Amino acid sequence: MVKLNVTVIGGGMITRQVILPTIIQEKKKGKISSIVVASRTRDTIEQLIKLFPDVNIKGYPEKDQDSHAWKTAIKETEKPSIIIIATPDDLHAEMALFAIEHSHHVIVQKPLCLTVNDAYNIMNSAKEKVVYVFTDYHKRHDLSLRACQYKYRKGEMGEVLCGHAWHEQRREIPLKYFRKWCEKSSPFEYLGTHYIDMFYFITGLKPVKVVAQGQKKLLVSHGINAFDSCEGMITWNNGAVLYLQTSWILPEKNPCLSNQGFQITCTEGEFRADNANRNSNFSTTKDGYELFNPYFFKPYLDWNSFEDTEYAGYGADSIVQAIDDCIKITEQTKNLNKELAFEKRQKLLSEFEKTRPLPNQAIIGVSVIEAGKMSMIKEGKPVFLDDKLFPHYD
Ligand SMILES: NC(=O)c1ccc[n+]([C@@H]2O[C@H](COP(=O)([O-])OP(=O)(O)OC[C@H]3O[C@@H](n4cnc5c(N)ncnc54)[C@H](O)[C@@H]3O)[C@@H](O)[C@H]2O)c1
Repeated sequence: MVKLNVTVIGGGMITRQVILPTIIQEKKKGKISSIVVASRTRDTIEQLIKLFPDVNIKGYPEKDQDSHAWKTAIKETEKPSIIIIATPDDLHAEMALFAIEHSHHVIVQKPLCLTVNDAYNIMNSAKEKVVYVFTDYHKRHDLSLRACQYKYRKGEMGEVLCGHAWHEQRREIPLKYFRKWCEKSSPFEYLGTHYIDMFYFITGLKPVKVVAQGQKKLLVSHGINAFDSCEGMITWNNGAVLYLQTSWILPEKNPCLSNQGFQITCTEGEFRADNANRNSNFSTTKDGYELFNPYFFKPYLDWNSFEDTEYAGYGADSIVQAIDDCIKITEQTKNLNKELAFEKRQKLLSEFEKTRPLPNQAIIGVSVIEAGKMSMIKEGKPVFLDDKLFPHYD
């Protein structure tokens, strides 16, 4: 089997908690040859090396600070390769375009980017270079939500009329983890994108109108000019409406990081899921009461040796799907000449884009969050999406 060289850009929360454990596990399975991380400071790299002592993580910058070290890392990554972008949302577009320009396959943490214009730039550039650009919408791998897609697409639920989704996180996210960049984002963009994509994933419908509002009360009292909460009404092209409620100021004592759930009412039935409370909860002296979601991404004893730990869940499954796709592309093109390899890659990508969040699908989430932001700054003024998904007021 061919092995990929993986370069992760950004050494923050998601890299430590999900991406690196997943990549390291895939390396043990023989799918990855090297792991490189590029962040802004050497200090972050040293922390990661200490956190994952069993793997030989190479890191950039090699000393002190360099907010452009990611460019060197991308240029020096040998093919076959995959670049994983796990930096603040507003940096995704520039980094993805640079990686594509250097002909690497790419995984971008959701959202793909923040504007429809950037999404088209990424889409067109990926088509030109014929590379795979996957947005990590891991909820597509949550079997509860996937089951809803199955019944909906098989016609068992009829046609969707309306729905609601709620996604709220503890205040440690803007106060601690994203303090440096939360003013450039909002709960609507950072969290809302998940269930916007989910509505699209289940129904295949396109958004046509967004009305959104946000509130600023708690975070401003901590000197942070960011929304505490945001709500949106999204109208889809069959007239269905999704109400989306997001916030990131839940108390620190909330028994899980994210309260979340999803409901849709259809002409022949409804779906209702609490995606936080999976009825498998712990109470321990160490952590107190904990709403435990075993399906996201949790450590388990490895079946091959109870001395080892295995991570499992939809958080990993999504990344693994992209790695496996890139291995398939590499395997199926390795013995072909340049022209045939180009054609084969085009063919494989046009198959993948029917079912995966490649740019043609990830643009849906981008269009709604861009429209939502435009609506919020005008205190709920309706924003319409044209047939190419560009948002406009009138
Ligand atoms: N798939 C998911 O469900 C999921 C979950 C959490 C976060 N995310 C997304 O992942 C991304 C990162 O989130 P996070 O939680 O790790 O955030 P974070 O703030 O903890 O980490 C961001 C990292 O990017 C680094 N960075 C910033 N500027 C950089 C630059 N110029 N060059 C290199 N590195 C740079 C920071 O130093 C930090 O290490 C965001 O887009 C977020 O929306 C996705």
